[in-house]
Amino acid sequence: MNEIPVPFLDLKPEFEALEHEWLEAIRRIGMSGAFILGPEVHAFEREFADYIGAPYSVSVASGTDALILSLKALNIGAGDEVITTPYSFFATAEVISRTGATPVFVDIDPVSFNLDIDRVQACINARTRAILPVHLFGCPVDMGALQALADGHGIPLIEDCAQACGAVHKTRRVGGWGDFGCFSFYPTKVLGCYGDGGIITIQDPGYVEKIKKLRNHGAGAAFVHEAIGYNSRLDEIQAALLRIKMRSLNDRIDKRRQVAVWYDKGFAGSDVITPGSPYGEHVYNLYTIRASDRDRVRDRLESARIGFNLCYRVPLHRQRVYLPLEYAANDLPNTEKASRECISLPIHPYMTEDQVQRVVDVVLATG
Ligand SMILES: Cc1ncc(COP(=O)(O)O)c(C=O)c1O
Repeated sequence: MNEIPVPFLDLKPEFEALEHEWLEAIRRIGMSGAFILGPEVHAFEREFADYIGAPYSVSVASGTDALILSLKALNIGAGDEVITTPYSFFATAEVISRTGATPVFVDIDPVSFNLDIDRVQACINARTRAILPVHLFGCPVDMGALQALADGHGIPLIEDCAQACGAVHKTRRVGGWGDFGCFSFYPTKVLGCYGDGGIITIQDPGYVEKIKKLRNHGAGAAFVHEAIGYNSRLDEIQAALLRIKMRSLNDRIDKRRQVAVWYDKGFAGSDVITPGSPYGEHVYNLYTIRASDRDRVRDRLESARIGFNLCYRVPLHRQRVYLPLEYAANDLPNTEKASRECISLPIHPYMTEDQVQRVVDVVLATG
């Protein structure tokens, strides 16, 4: 077995590639004295909305805030229910609880790891105020089917696109389907900044001003506050970096897809189940396999010094704060199984075929 470690993620080569341009942008911003809600943020919001194919976007301080401000824009709160997936990062449910509403967990489809649309209908009732699908790991949800269902009931859709910037369902990028598309620019994301950041893509112009107020202390004009809001703004330095990175975003997505092809080839014919993408083009923010002997695979990776993550070994309905919702062991069987079998392997645009082969060899090694 090859002894060279493989990190889960390596952000340094990308920094080196754009270091000069970014430092130049920081210098320019420093000299301008405009650090918050200035020209970089406004230009980035236009460029990002165009990339996604949404009419509007409003940047915020994180992906979590993108979700909270979308829920708040819909006046969702105590007594309301929001349908979502139990198989996601904690923030997906946390934001619903943060508003005072209750998350209603619907089981996943075992191939895409995303909400099983056929099971959503049965959970809709008079308290349902939104459906919040997650394009998990970078794999698009069947948004066409979900939108038809949501429209039939007049229920808004909030897409959690934190892991799926650039993923495509049918001919449209994710975030361009729902009423709101919520993106995270956390550094490990497909489009990441060097700190926290997020953005909301928006269909209805009526929500643009409302969310702009919410992100800035509820203020319309300076020192005139019309709502209880937040301090949730993307800063100029991060916006400048994101504008630079946007130019090579599609290239970096292609490189992630190439890494996924190498993995798929390496695992072909084995018992390992590689990620499927039944509803469109995956962007592989994470390359997550299923292995029935997952814990033995984890131990081998650990001793070979290969990075991995157990996304998500504790599903949301089993997190301590959600135990009072009393989901039973057999309520969400696909989610339970995924949480036992899944393991995310190293992936980033600068990974080499040799590194992928090393990971494959260790995953498939017996003993
Ligand atoms: C699916 C999902 N939703 C929401 C978030 C929250 O994004 P942020 O870390 O930018 O607040 C994340 C971040 O990891 C995520 O993976």
